[in-house]
Amino acid sequence: MKVTNILFGLGLLSILEESVAYPGMSNTISEIKQRTLPKRQTLLQRRVVRPRQVETAEDPEAPEEPGVLIGDIKDGGTTPIGKTVARILLETESGQSLEAGYQIPGPPNSTECKEDTCCIWAHISAELTAAFRGPSGRCNKWARAAVRLGFHDAGTWSQALADNGQDFGGADGSIALSADEIQRPENNGLQGIVNKTQVWQKKFGVGMGDLIQFSAQHAVVTCPLGPRIRTFVGRKDSSKAAVDGLLPGVNDSADKLIKLFEDKTISPHDLVALLGAHTTSEQFFVDTEQKGAPQDGTPGVWDTLFYNQTLGTGPLPKEVFRFPSDIVLSKDPRTADEWLSFSGPEGQNHWNEDYSYSYIRLSMLGVNNINNLTECTKVLPLPRPYFQDAGQLLVNE
Ligand SMILES: *[C@@H]1O[C@H](CO)[C@@H](O)[C@H](O)[C@H]1NC(C)=O
Ligand SMILES: *[C@@H]1O[C@H](CO)[C@@H](O)[C@H](O)[C@H]1NC(C)=O
Ligand SMILES: *[C@@H]1O[C@H](CO)[C@@H](O)[C@H](O)[C@H]1NC(C)=O
Ligand SMILES: *[C@@H]1O[C@H](CO)[C@@H](O)[C@H](O)[C@H]1NC(C)=O
Ligand SMILES: *[C@@H]1O[C@H](CO)[C@@H](O)[C@H](O)[C@H]1NC(C)=O
Repeated sequence: MKVTNILFGLGLLSILEESVAYPGMSNTISEIKQRTLPKRQTLLQRRVVRPRQVETAEDPEAPEEPGVLIGDIKDGGTTPIGKTVARILLETESGQSLEAGYQIPGPPNSTECKEDTCCIWAHISAELTAAFRGPSGRCNKWARAAVRLGFHDAGTWSQALADNGQDFGGADGSIALSADEIQRPENNGLQGIVNKTQVWQKKFGVGMGDLIQFSAQHAVVTCPLGPRIRTFVGRKDSSKAAVDGLLPGVNDSADKLIKLFEDKTISPHDLVALLGAHTTSEQFFVDTEQKGAPQDGTPGVWDTLFYNQTLGTGPLPKEVFRFPSDIVLSKDPRTADEWLSFSGPEGQNHWNEDYSYSYIRLSMLGVNNINNLTECTKVLPLPRPYFQDAGQLLVNE
């Protein structure tokens, strides 16, 4: 029996079972609520009280500027969904959600399913959970690859190019739809997940840009401790190859990395949060003599150990391979405070919150119909904020 059919048969039951299985869930709900509200208020107050020009990048005490709006919601959005995404990008509404209880209306090709945008995504979710979760309950190599694919599709967008009439690239599926992008050296190692994603796309008949971003967010919540990031679908696909040279390199300087991401409307603070995705990554091509070396000692768990280990602290097994680009940002005065804060006590909640905001922004780059998207977070598996032996080293699936 196919996994999708099993899940369809169980329907709501399996979703309820999951929530009962994690007794810490009610804590997480209140933590999410408690953590986001005060931050929202402070951000808004700061924006009102403090004029923009006093907040220079050189002033380490300057509060983080809330991000700018992008795409077709630069005016704050014209539809309820556009307004919601705008509030998330401004960090006045949470980027995580525990909304659950979705009842799948029918099998993938049924009329009932076709009438409900999120239905097909619930079926996809069942398939991805099976594909991304390893035997120990940690997330596996396909989850890691899906996270990386999400970055490498969405990251190929530039505000400066967009302002010059080249508003394409970004989260449009072109990494899998153009013949060109997958050949680029920085995309080496992604062929396997691209192949798999192409199979899923044909099977379920959804957009490639959506599927890549949905998979990247699904992979994160499939990892123990990972946040359940709010997930939107309805992007437009493109088979036009994105402009080359818009993704970060492992040997880039802090200056280059910060500028590269600022040109994607991603602040240094958000960049630090996004780089935490190296919590579950393994490298195969940066140093071919250490193929499979993880960037954090617990590559199957979405924890903050990556931040410690990049600083050279915490339990640091010799197998961990640290990227020079991560090391320079862990030390740069524009990013070091945030780096340390993610590694410290309460770092996990802080990071999950910030990663969610930053990833939603990344997943909307180049998307110019945000007002027309649909939120389908409710079909994702629930997060697992507690995981036995989460700190066990070098278990990768
Ligand atoms: C991906 O698919 C192509 C074409 O079907 C095949 O040539 C290639 O070996 C596959 N790559 C991987 C890594 O699975
Ligand atoms: C839906 O129908 C199409 C066309 O008959 C088929 O190719 C596809 O595999 C079906 N999808 C699922 C998920 O069963
Ligand atoms: C990064 O620098 C190292 C050491 O200089 C070098 O061996 C490696 O090829 C460089 N990698 C890339 C992608 O430029
Ligand atoms: C990581 O470093 C922080 C200090 O930055 C420390 O409080 C924490 O205990 C460290 N975590 C581990 C697992 O060593
Ligand atoms: C959004 O949807 C409306 C109604 O379906 C359509 O008229 C409009 O062109 C869409 N806008 C974009 C940017 O896709």
